[in-house]
Amino acid sequence: MIFMTNQDFPLIFELSQESRTGFSLPELDVPEVDVDEMIGEAYVRKSEPNLPEVSELQIIRHYTALSKRNHGVDSGFYPLGSCTMKYNPKMNEDVARLTGFSHIHPYQPVETVQGALHLMYDLQESLAAITGMDTVTLQPAAGAHGEWTGLMMIRAYHEANGDYNRTKVIVPDSAHGTNPASATVAGFEAVTVKSDERGLVDLEDLKQVVDEKTAALMLTNPNTLGLFEEDIEEMASIVHGAGGKLYYDGANLNAILGYARPGDMGFDVVHLNLHKTFTGPHGGGGPGSGPVGVTAEFAEYLPKPILTVENGLYVFDYDRPQSIGRVKPFYGNFGINVRAYTYIRTMGPEGLKKVSEYAVLNANYMMRRLQEEFDLPFDRHCKHEFILSGKRQKKLGVRTLDMAKRLLDFGYHPPTIYFPINVEEALMVEPTETESKETLDDFIDNMIQIANEARNEPEKVQDAPHTTIVNRMDETLAARKPVLRYQKED
Ligand SMILES: Cc1ncc(COP(=O)(O)O)c(C=O)c1O
Repeated sequence: MIFMTNQDFPLIFELSQESRTGFSLPELDVPEVDVDEMIGEAYVRKSEPNLPEVSELQIIRHYTALSKRNHGVDSGFYPLGSCTMKYNPKMNEDVARLTGFSHIHPYQPVETVQGALHLMYDLQESLAAITGMDTVTLQPAAGAHGEWTGLMMIRAYHEANGDYNRTKVIVPDSAHGTNPASATVAGFEAVTVKSDERGLVDLEDLKQVVDEKTAALMLTNPNTLGLFEEDIEEMASIVHGAGGKLYYDGANLNAILGYARPGDMGFDVVHLNLHKTFTGPHGGGGPGSGPVGVTAEFAEYLPKPILTVENGLYVFDYDRPQSIGRVKPFYGNFGINVRAYTYIRTMGPEGLKKVSEYAVLNANYMMRRLQEEFDLPFDRHCKHEFILSGKRQKKLGVRTLDMAKRLLDFGYHPPTIYFPINVEEALMVEPTETESKETLDDFIDNMIQIANEARNEPEKVQDAPHTTIVNRMDETLAARKPVLRYQKED
């Protein structure tokens, strides 16, 4: 068998031996079917598929070896800023695998799945309580999907009020890329508002860009610099005063869980990333969950159907004439919602407060220890993540990318780099609450070592990584044209 990643790494092994198999089947003891007739001659293979001929043990070893080349939160520290790569408790997995949750079908009559619907209903209620919103939909499948869903509701709201000229959605210059992208896909023009020297939204600039065309301001708080937007109430009053709405990107809720609620800050529409804050496993492009919560004035626009209770029975209400429609087949990524519900129930209100306390403590501890060696563009207490700048190292010829690659040699997933885009040579670290002090210290020591290397032996950093199977690859090509075949293409 040939395993390939890219042209620098074309061939690892060839294990195939003619006639070797990984299975054995009993003699056929039923009448043989005419395949041509069954599926149509045009579709029947004319030749044997060219597959590797390997034993079961070989195939197991092959995939086990591949799985070990992955870095996940279960294998090591993963301080990827903005992504909240925290530990995913295994109890969530046990609960999600209960047959009453995993062996049901969305087409089943509601009377037969009351337990699952009860869980969804309770989860909606819990998320409403956590965010300070009136009602929640679990349909959207990711954060970006939640953003788009929320903006479509804002659009429906304005249009229902005969307000067709609200064409602008304002996003800060530090915003996550999905914010302007969702605004554009929802048919709005994304307009940037500047950050000031504090790293917060510049109120004067906000006043300039907000006008009668403003449909909404999209904001995450703490923002993508890890800083709490302390002027949020004033911002809310500027936007509301002009007839616009406030959209909350809940990707950073991990910093304020149990302490502050977007609803109390003046937000009208909120999405959450259950796959981040509420421990859904993520990072491999797997299913996410991006529920959207709204204040009562938006409830009629929520995607349909709505889960509701009638005569003691959980049922779906499809009779929603003002709804923006369905945004996802069935009712959302149920399995991720079960995990999030399990997490919320096992943590409880006090546990959720501890989450944000430790997330913030860990981030500030690391930031203060690292500021000796790296530039700190915003020298104020951070929330759950912080931004360093590699400007100092850049002057020595070592880029942030090089330092991120060098971290791989120490067994870490690197932090997010070159984001937010308003910080030069940005390094965005989010340790999360689930890491021990020993892990934080070890990471800090390694970062300090890299800063020393940048001064004294820069080529060691510039040529990193040294210990991984592949060195530096063309990341664009690897992402855009992954070679997934087991055989080399002719
Ligand atoms: C601040 C912020 N907003 C939105 C998103 C988008 O979430 P998702 O990746 O689930 O679409 C992210 C994801 O990293 C984020 O960090």
